[in-house]
Amino acid sequence: MISVVIIGSGNVAKHLIKAFLKIDNINLKQVYTRNLKDEALLKNSVSTTNDLSLIKQADVTIIAVNDDAISHISSKIKNSLVVHTSGSVEMNALKNPNNKGVFYLLQSFSKEKEINFSTIPICLEAEDNKDLLKLEKLASLLKGDIYYLSSLQRKKIHVAAVFVNNFTNHMYAIAHKICEDHNVPFNILQPLIIETSQKIANLTPKKAQTGPAIRNDEETIKNHLNLLTESQQELYLKITQSIQNHGKEL
Ligand SMILES: NC(=O)c1ccc[n+]([C@@H]2O[C@H](COP(=O)([O-])OP(=O)(O)OC[C@H]3O[C@@H](n4cnc5c(N)ncnc54)[C@H](OP(=O)(O)O)[C@@H]3O)[C@@H](O)[C@H]2O)c1
Repeated sequence: MISVVIIGSGNVAKHLIKAFLKIDNINLKQVYTRNLKDEALLKNSVSTTNDLSLIKQADVTIIAVNDDAISHISSKIKNSLVVHTSGSVEMNALKNPNNKGVFYLLQSFSKEKEINFSTIPICLEAEDNKDLLKLEKLASLLKGDIYYLSSLQRKKIHVAAVFVNNFTNHMYAIAHKICEDHNVPFNILQPLIIETSQKIANLTPKKAQTGPAIRNDEETIKNHLNLLTESQQELYLKITQSIQNHGKEL
């Protein structure tokens, strides 16, 4: 049995709370939240507090709050092992007096969307080997794939994740607008989106690259630019140049 306290009640915290409550070998001892609405929703299933001085002792205390609040909140927690869940914050940003670590779930979490933890890479870091074993035990109960990343490696992976997730989604938003403006359902692009993401399971992204940029089809590129707004043209040109440069050197 491993005991856990969660600090925060946002996207990540909510999914962790839900998952931990279903696992027999995890004792979710308490959730700290300053959000009264969340506290009201949680208090039937788990002990809650809105006072950091009343945090219970636990094997692992997980801080799942905004990146900017991690240092301040951790400085008020005296529990034995305190970890944060951020991809881009160094372990040493934790200011608790005792042991520190990181429990970073490499997935995009939204409150409304169900999450299957067994498909999520869990990136661990700890100062102490015994703590790493504790985090490993917790991660294995969630059944995710475990990775051991330093703060620097995790930061770099977080940037890579911004490219594959946030930037790709922004491309979908532009495509969605183009479809909407021309009365074509966005669903028409769904099979292409799925094929593009599945193809890279077997091919490197560089090998999988197709389209007018990599083929140097100047006429098609010119025609595309004529169909776009000014800001879309800027982005199209930047990405076209990047594809053409990466075709030569990565
Ligand atoms: N969302 C993701 O996809 C994702 C994925 C991996 C890792 N992460 C990391 O996980 C952490 C949490 O992200 P999230 O998406 O769950 O954030 P979120 O949904 O915005 O929730 C943030 C939580 O922190 C609380 N909070 C913020 N500042 C606070 C303060 N000064 N004192 C007390 N509570 C405070 C908020 O309370 P209120 O509701 O009262 O504002 C809320 O409960 C971040 O470090 C993030 O980088 C996020």
